[in-house]
Amino acid sequence: MTRPADDDLSTEAIAAATRTRWLGRPLFYWPAVGSTNDELKRLAESGTPEGALAIADEQTAGRGRLERSWLAPAHSSLLMSLLFRPTFLHPTHIQQVTMVCALAAADAVTAVTGIQVRLKWPNDIQLGGKKLAGILTELGFDADLRPAWAVVGIGLNVNLEFSGLPVLSDTATSLSLALNRPVPRLPLLRAYLANVETRYDALRGGVGPYQEWAARLETLGRRVTVATPAGEHNGVTDAVDETGALLLRCRDGRVLRILAGDVTLRR
Ligand code: BTN
Repeated sequence: MTRPADDDLSTEAIAAATRTRWLGRPLFYWPAVGSTNDELKRLAESGTPEGALAIADEQTAGRGRLERSWLAPAHSSLLMSLLFRPTFLHPTHIQQVTMVCALAAADAVTAVTGIQVRLKWPNDIQLGGKKLAGILTELGFDADLRPAWAVVGIGLNVNLEFSGLPVLSDTATSLSLALNRPVPRLPLLRAYLANVETRYDALRGGVGPYQEWAARLETLGRRVTVATPAGEHNGVTDAVDETGALLLRCRDGRVLRILAGDVTLRR
């Protein structure tokens, strides 16, 4: 597929595309790097201010949730991480920063391409039942064990082609596959940063994303299997709470509160 205009990433192009007041600065761009989350975590520990953006055209050691790797060839995706210092939040509500980013990414996709997407717990962006984007949030704590920073990394499959990646083609999709044309990354990046900034400022002002996030989750009220690091559970997804946890009603009536896992729909 021919690369579209407005797709080449560089420090200059990203800075020029950014229309935010504070988010996206300082900016760290690499043509290739291990993992933008790893880089930004190091920068967070050394005092880099809130708002920093770490972005790469390619990752050689990209990481997903639950210790998985995140595969994305050069030019195929938006691979980036944002640094927040949400010390205004109660520690149990820190995942609201992830909710902000998930909603911002979903809205950016719709604004730029017209495609409607849904969220899948915990924070995947889904298109036609397949994964379009995933989010990995990692936290750092101060000496009193209060969250000092949050690094929210997103991988958005923009022009990902699956011919060389058969393992992904059953479960993942991309914007170019859905639209049958290449999609430029810079407008998506611009919209994402603008949306995150607006939503994060609202969160700081006391308006959280929880209600909207919960309403846009496609997996509520469904019979599912949830694979967690501690094992699998079957049940019905009753609700999510403001901490981002999934409440799963099991057949014996117990309600499990699950913080991390993968949901698969059962028939
Ligand atoms: C998931 O498993 O769904 C989360 C995937 C997160 C991938 C992104 S790509 C940019 C950032 N850097 C990483 O190493 N991971 C995240």
